[in-house]
Amino acid sequence: MIYILDTADLEAIKIANEFYPIEGVTTNPSIIAREKCDFKQRLLDIRNIIGKDKMLCVQTTSKVAEDIVKEAIALRDLVGGEFYIKVPIGEAGLKACMMLKKENIGVLMTAIFTPQQALLAAKAGAKLVAPYVNRLDMVNADGVGVVADIVATFENYGVDCKCLAASFKNVQQVNDVALAGCHYSTISLDILKALAKHPLTDVAVDGFDKDWNNVYGDKTILDLI
Ligand code: E4P
Repeated sequence: MIYILDTADLEAIKIANEFYPIEGVTTNPSIIAREKCDFKQRLLDIRNIIGKDKMLCVQTTSKVAEDIVKEAIALRDLVGGEFYIKVPIGEAGLKACMMLKKENIGVLMTAIFTPQQALLAAKAGAKLVAPYVNRLDMVNADGVGVVADIVATFENYGVDCKCLAASFKNVQQVNDVALAGCHYSTISLDILKALAKHPLTDVAVDGFDKDWNNVYGDKTILDLI
């Protein structure tokens, strides 16, 4: 599982980048707009924090294939490094995806809700597809099941496309897509932190500290060797 952070909040990105094994950042127009920031500067700031080797995914706002391609080239030139253009599935998106393949710009096809949307995206040349797990769960449509079907369909056809599941609201959903063999998950900092937490971990560490302190007081290992 490759963990990606789904935010444009610089403080959250700094924390996730320093303390967790994330391999990139995804954004969408809602995520960016929530920050009420200078769009261009925010993308540069995110790239500056995560470096050139981690994925930065930025979503197009254009509705015409040729304009999507222009935006993708301009964004790629702006942020550099490991860049993906996020393109919503649809006729313009699929056409843009086929055009972007020739430009050698990776496409993350987004707003995916069915395995057939995902397969079409893959056939059009998308490198990644983003099914929205919690939005499917909210309408009783089994988000994890859709992810599992996408992973199985990609394996059946040997397509060169990976599933980047999105729209998570809890740890259970992330674990369930991992069990389904999903390749990537994009999640909030809150969920990332929750993945690392367990009350019994805290109890175990408290016990180690208490036992150590009873014998060695406040001495550290480096004090003793
Ligand atoms: C990421 O690619 C998606 O845009 C995002 O995860 C959607 O999440 P939401 O359903 O919480 O808005």
